[in-house]
Amino acid sequence: MRYKKYFRKTSFKQKGVGDFFLKEVLLKKPKTFLEVGVFHGVTARNICELLYTIHKDEFKYIGLDLFEKNDQNKNEVIPSTNFTNPLKSIYFKYIKKQNPYSIEAVKELLIKYKKNVHLIRGNSNTVLKNIDMKKIDFVFLDGGHTYETVMNDLEACADTLKNGGTVLCDDYNLGHAPGVKNSIDDYVKKNKLNCRILCDGRFAKIEKN
Ligand SMILES: C[S@@+](CC[C@H](N)C(=O)[O-])C[C@H]1O[C@@H](n2cnc3c(N)ncnc32)[C@H](O)[C@@H]1O
Repeated sequence: MRYKKYFRKTSFKQKGVGDFFLKEVLLKKPKTFLEVGVFHGVTARNICELLYTIHKDEFKYIGLDLFEKNDQNKNEVIPSTNFTNPLKSIYFKYIKKQNPYSIEAVKELLIKYKKNVHLIRGNSNTVLKNIDMKKIDFVFLDGGHTYETVMNDLEACADTLKNGGTVLCDDYNLGHAPGVKNSIDDYVKKNKLNCRILCDGRFAKIEKN
């Protein structure tokens, strides 16, 4: 299956990275998937398409994002939601009349899978504590990029890892966000986990030893 962009912005701009990511998910065939950092929902839609081909209606996708910049989350890093392609700006502003970085827009993009999808608006630093992580088979960590937030998110994944699940982290080697790599390295060392760096340093795949 090829990674599609659905006329929106995504983390996976570089050619081949989205396809690589989908192959990693396919290897594990997870039934319950959690994405931290949904943004415009492009990866979410690709995951749902893939899991539907594997499990038909027997899968669950949970997506968590701030879905807005406000005073409480002003310290979190939110990628620019402006498009470089003017056609996309015109499409969302005048035709869809919708902010693609909104929970409503993402719900619409995932409407085909509404029975399988659960979207949560909130900060991973508080929300992940309320999710039963034992039930999650695969986590894609792509939310906040500070050391503290990535460490919080990884610590929340302890039960997923104990149960044999996978945590795939994006942006491991991102020069302007060294907190991602530093927190992953510290967490993996402290908990004696297995960590493989994939796709030219782009992803860190964490599993139990
Ligand atoms: C790089 S984007 C995610 C891209 C998306 N995974 C994709 O593949 O297109 C990072 C997202 O994380 C969200 N985010 C940042 N800090 C967060 C936090 N503490 N809790 C939840 N979401 C957060 C931002 O709002 C942004 O939408």
